[in-house]
Amino acid sequence: MSFDTRILCIGAGYVGGPTMAVIADRCPHVKVTVTDINRQRIDAWNSNDLPIYEPGLDLVVGRARGRNLFFTTDVAAGIREADIIFVSVNTPTKAFGEGAGKAADLQYWEKTAREILANSERGKIVVEKSTLPVRTADAMARILNSNSRGIRFEVLSNPEFLAEGTAVRDLELPDRVLIGSEETPGGIAARRAVADIYATWVPRERVLEANVWSAELSKLTANAFLAQRISSINAMSALCEKTEADIDEVAHAIGTDSRIGPKFLKASVGFGGSCFKKDILNLVYIAESYGLHEVADYWESVVRMNEWQEARFVRTMLTNMFNTVAGKRIALLGFAFKADTGDTRESPADAVARGLLAERAHVVISDPKALANARRDLEDVTGQVEFEDDPYKAAAGAHAIAIMTEWSEYRTLDYNRIYAAMEKPAFLFDGRNILDHRALFDVGFNVFPIGKVALKHF
Ligand SMILES: NC(=O)c1ccc[n+]([C@@H]2O[C@H](COP(=O)([O-])OP(=O)(O)OC[C@H]3O[C@@H](n4cnc5c(N)ncnc54)[C@H](O)[C@@H]3O)[C@@H](O)[C@H]2O)c1
Repeated sequence: MSFDTRILCIGAGYVGGPTMAVIADRCPHVKVTVTDINRQRIDAWNSNDLPIYEPGLDLVVGRARGRNLFFTTDVAAGIREADIIFVSVNTPTKAFGEGAGKAADLQYWEKTAREILANSERGKIVVEKSTLPVRTADAMARILNSNSRGIRFEVLSNPEFLAEGTAVRDLELPDRVLIGSEETPGGIAARRAVADIYATWVPRERVLEANVWSAELSKLTANAFLAQRISSINAMSALCEKTEADIDEVAHAIGTDSRIGPKFLKASVGFGGSCFKKDILNLVYIAESYGLHEVADYWESVVRMNEWQEARFVRTMLTNMFNTVAGKRIALLGFAFKADTGDTRESPADAVARGLLAERAHVVISDPKALANARRDLEDVTGQVEFEDDPYKAAAGAHAIAIMTEWSEYRTLDYNRIYAAMEKPAFLFDGRNILDHRALFDVGFNVFPIGKVALKHF
C-alpha cells in the first residue's frame, strides 16, 4: 500500500501509543510507526496484551495495527523514512544537579534530538508531543539546525491534552488540538501540514494554531489550572470537616456557577498522575529562573496543598483508630492514581501506603488493573506489604479499609460481607467520596469521608 505521509513517534508510552493509534485509525493514508528503546513495551504493543490499560484502546489498535500502524525498536530506520516525527518521550522531574526536584529532566528528549539529526538525510517536521519547558523548541531547533549538511528542520509544539482513563475519547473528540510553530513561512507551512492530519477527523475550528512558545506554555498552564482546582476544593474539604459543611454540597453550589463550572471539584485524598506535580514544579522552576518568586510560590502552594491532603488522610486514619495502627491490617482498595487506568505514577495511594507503613501498619493493596505497577512502585518495601486481587480477601481480618481509587466496582461491593469479615470496630475511610456513607454506617462501619462529618458509632 502506498502512503502519502510517513509519521514516526519516538516514545511508545501512555501518550505516544494511544495518540498514534488514533491517528493511524483515522488516517489510513498515513503510515504511522511508533518506536521505543524499551523492547518489552514494543513487544507488548505488538501483542494482544497492550502495555497500558485504556478503555477502547485495544479496538483502535486492532483496526490499524499491521495496516498503517507499526511498532518497532528500530528508531534509526523510523527516522530515515519519516516526514513528520513526534517526540513523546518522558520528561520527568530532574532528580540531580541544578534544578533537582523541580526542573524537567531533558536528557531523554535531547537524546532523541541528536538521534534525529544523526539519522536524517533530508529536512523533517519535528513535533514536540512531550510536555516541555517553555522555549525548549528553541533548543531543539538549534541542535537540529546545527548540521553542516544544509538540512532544515521545523520544530513544532503540539502538546497533548488527553487524560488517562479517557484517552481514546479525548483523542477522537478533543476539545481542541493546539499546534505552535515559529511565525515564519516554513513554520506556518509545517503547522498547516500537521493541522491537516488532525483535520481528517477533528473539526477545523478546534485545531488551534499559535506561536510555539504559547503552545508550550499552554500545556503547563492547563495542568496547573486543573490541579489548582483540585487543591482548592481539597483545601475547602478540610474546612468542611471542621464546620459541618458538606463538601459535595459546597462543590455543587459553586459548580453550578457558570463562571466556575462543575469539573475538577470532587474532593479526594489528592491528585496523582505523572503530570500535574511535575508540570507545576517545572512551571515553578521556570518562574523562579525569571526572578518571578511570587508567581513560583503561588503555583508551588498547589502541590504543597496536595501533599498536605495526603498526609491529612493518614492522620485522620491514625487519630481515629485510637492513635495506633501498628500491626493492624489495613486494606487499601485501589492503587491506580484514578479509575480506568493501571497507571500508578504519583498516586496518592503510594503516599498513604508509605504513611501507614511508617506507623507499622500491615498494609494490603488491591486494585483491578494496577497491581503489577503497585508491586514495582513498592519494591523497596517488599515484605511489608501484601498484594491481593480480590478486595474481599484484602479486607478479611482488616481493622480498616480505605478507598484510594474511584473504581466503579468499589461502589457495588457487598459491604455486609466485608463488614462481617473485618475486625471490630470496623473503619472505612472513603478517600474518593464514592460510597453511600449513611448506608455503610447502618451496616456497622465507622465511616470517614472527605469534607463531611464522620459517622461514628462511638
Ligand atoms: N501521561 C499523560 O497523561 C500525559 C498527558 C499529556 C502529556 N504527557 C506528556 O507526554 C510525555 C510522555 O508521557 P508518557 O506518560 O507517555 O510517558 P511514558 O514514560 O509512558 O513514555 C515515554 C516512553 O519514551 C521512551 N523513550 C525514552 N527515551 C527514548 C528514546 N531516546 N528513544 C525512544 N524511546 C524513548 C520510554 O522508553 C517510554 O516508553 C511526557 O512529557 C508527559 O509529560 C503525558
